[in-house]
Amino acid sequence: MSSVAPALAAQNLHRAFGSGDEAVQVLRDVSIELYEGQVLLLMGPSGSGKSTLLAVLSGLLRPDQGQVRVLGKDLWRMREAERERFRLSHFGFVFQGFNLFPSLTASEQLEMVVRWGEGASRGEARRRVGEILERLGLGRRAHLRADRLSGGEKQRVAVGRALLKHPRFCFADEPTGSLDWGHGEQIIRLLQSAARDRGAVLFMVGHDPRLVPYADRVLHLVDGQLADETTPAPTPSEVPS
Ligand SMILES: Nc1ncnc2c1ncn2[C@@H]1O[C@H](COP(=O)(O)OP(=O)(O)OP(=O)(O)O)[C@@H](O)[C@H]1O
Ligand SMILES: [Mg+2]
Repeated sequence: MSSVAPALAAQNLHRAFGSGDEAVQVLRDVSIELYEGQVLLLMGPSGSGKSTLLAVLSGLLRPDQGQVRVLGKDLWRMREAERERFRLSHFGFVFQGFNLFPSLTASEQLEMVVRWGEGASRGEARRRVGEILERLGLGRRAHLRADRLSGGEKQRVAVGRALLKHPRFCFADEPTGSLDWGHGEQIIRLLQSAARDRGAVLFMVGHDPRLVPYADRVLHLVDGQLADETTPAPTPSEVPS
């Protein structure tokens, strides 16, 4: 794998919050390389900096020091507008708080991405959205406003929204956090298939040890530094028979 160029290479990232005596150093000299088709799971205690690292790698939060090269481009040297376009074209996000529009229905949240993001026709948007909502087990909830959906249903809509555009990278912060494991497993399989079928990079933050077999690499963030990388055995369905 080392002969292939990484899709994302981050070097010597540092990030603090606050200033002076109040400053808290959250990331300390983090370097990481992500490759196409890889599922990476980032674990670590609450407050260890996992969401901060995800935000720095995905162009949402500027590091104090260090570099993030994505698809050969230096993310933090782009102008703001260029970085925003780059994010829209290549990155899908599932946030810890879901970030849905409360007054739009499940279908509307997703159709918006396809119609505005890609200029697709209404019919095309409906078809693609219908298909992904079925896969997420949300076919019968599609017409409900987000504020009427349960936490787990919102989370599934958020995952659908992130994958709809077939992004090269998917950044998912606790994507199975508020789900029972039946739905959690459905989500993780869907996210994993983005990597397996399309070569997307999946960078996922999670606590649940049941996510481990779905990852190619598991990293631990401890006191703002990466430690203990492991390579889990593949999930049973992936073992060639
Ligand atoms: N915008 C901010 N301003 C000030 N401090 C912040 C900010 N964002 C994060 N922090 C602090 O940085 C540290 C790391 O936060 P982060 O959200 O990255 O942790 P985490 O590992 O994702 O935790 P969790 O598992 O609870 O989601 C915490 O101490 C947090 O309080
Ligand atoms: Mg977090």
